[in-house]
Amino acid sequence: MMTSSKMPAANGKICVAPSILSADLWRLGEEVNTVAQAGADWLHVDVMDGHFVPNLSFGPAVVSSLNGKTDLPLDVHLMVEEPMLFVDAFARAGADLLTVHIEAKDEIVNTLKYIKSLGVKAGVSIKPQTDPTRIIPLLDLVDLVLVMSVNPGFGGQAFLPESETQIKQVRQFITRSGRNIWLEADGGINPKTAPLAVQAGADALVAGSAIFKAADPVLALKQIRQAAPDI
Ligand code: DX5
Ligand code: ZN
Repeated sequence: MMTSSKMPAANGKICVAPSILSADLWRLGEEVNTVAQAGADWLHVDVMDGHFVPNLSFGPAVVSSLNGKTDLPLDVHLMVEEPMLFVDAFARAGADLLTVHIEAKDEIVNTLKYIKSLGVKAGVSIKPQTDPTRIIPLLDLVDLVLVMSVNPGFGGQAFLPESETQIKQVRQFITRSGRNIWLEADGGINPKTAPLAVQAGADALVAGSAIFKAADPVLALKQIRQAAPDI
């Protein structure tokens, strides 16, 4: 099975990826259309298995229901202990990018190679306490590195200031690799913290509660983008 990803390679543009974890699920379609019209670049879908993180969220059926209904690339973040159990199902459901955690149980190189073999873009994510140098040997295999700027599992947490150091280090490793790799910051991103993440080197910003819990999600998305102009 080969799919083709709608997500472009990193290109110096700042991308904003609203996370539907904080959307009103009763009105998911409307919420997605609202952020798409407001200029969102990707849609971030958080997948949780109750083991890797102490929470449950969305499965392949949700990705499948979005696929074909929105033009936004589907940025799927697997916070699961055994990603290999689910990669096929999410690729089939229409994920454009599958990001897996380096701290998960499955062997990371094989997992990333398998994702790529399906024609899906591959990302690797690190939690706040993880040594960023661990991603260096993986840079030939990935299209994106996701730095968690909160402890994974829940929306609505505060941006951890120490994640700026992690983002800076990862940016250096990406620059040295010479490859076009996105650097995505995820957690606690709002108009105040977006510039911190971008100045540290992020070029993709996930924002859940700051967009979907705002009184005016369109304005909130614009404020995040204005706070983080293209580099
Ligand atoms: C947290 C998830 C995030 C979450 C971000 O474990 O990975 O993507 O949706 O939510 P906010 O933007 O509210 O911190
Ligand atoms: Zn996420």
